Amino acid sequence: MILSCIAAVAENRVIGYHNKLPWKLSEDLKRFKKLTVGHPIIMGRKTFESIGNPLSNRTSIVVTRNTGFSAFGAVVVNSFPDAIRHANDVTQDADELFESFVIGGAAIFQEALSLCERLYLTRIHAVVEGDIFFPEIKMNEWHIRQKEFYPADKKNDYPTTFAVYERVKPPLKH
Ligand SMILES: NC(=O)c1ccc[n+]([C@@H]2O[C@H](COP(=O)([O-])OP(=O)(O)OC[C@H]3O[C@@H](n4cnc5c(N)ncnc54)[C@H](OP(=O)(O)O)[C@@H]3O)[C@@H](O)[C@H]2O)c1
Repeated sequence: MILSCIAAVAENRVIGYHNKLPWKLSEDLKRFKKLTVGHPIIMGRKTFESIGNPLSNRTSIVVTRNTGFSAFGAVVVNSFPDAIRHANDVTQDADELFESFVIGGAAIFQEALSLCERLYLTRIHAVVEGDIFFPEIKMNEWHIRQKEFYPADKKNDYPTTFAVYERVKPPLKH
């Protein structure tokens, strides 16, 4: 299984404000849906509550320390390693290139980043007010594979660049 992170990040690394997304980016939501449908998605309890319901046609895996938490239509786990195990179980009949997505928020991205092989980042070309931040990324650990600019318009508050990165593989030892 390939583990990937997917996030929309402002220039100051803001990803959220008052437990919501601090922007309207319709193109980004469309792309998020296209990429994640049919795949397990792993998220923190606050992100799950912020979305408000399990997203259709995806296995939602919600991470919380609260052992009494339940969420209709989602799988609840109590640690990030349990989330990975569950995503693996969901994908065990698929091929090894099957992808699972970590969709946030900050605490979960922090745990996931060192384990992810692929990063889908929507880079928002603006400094945005917020209270939740994407962790610092060591860019020398990533190759850029794809890059696509999208301008601001009526349905997109800011111009964005959608970028796909893959982790730099360590050189083979002989
Ligand atoms: N821009 C983006 O791409 C993007 C993506 C996702 C979310 N967001 C935004 O980010 C904000 C929410 O993110 P957040 O960082 O505040 O919260 P979060 O990561 O979604 O959820 C945090 C919660 O997850 C649980 N958790 C975290 N680490 C855990 C661990 N190691 N083991 C067990 N449970 C763990 C805890 O739940 P309990 O407290 O229940 O124990 C914790 O309070 C919102 O504003 C949302 O809109 C933005």
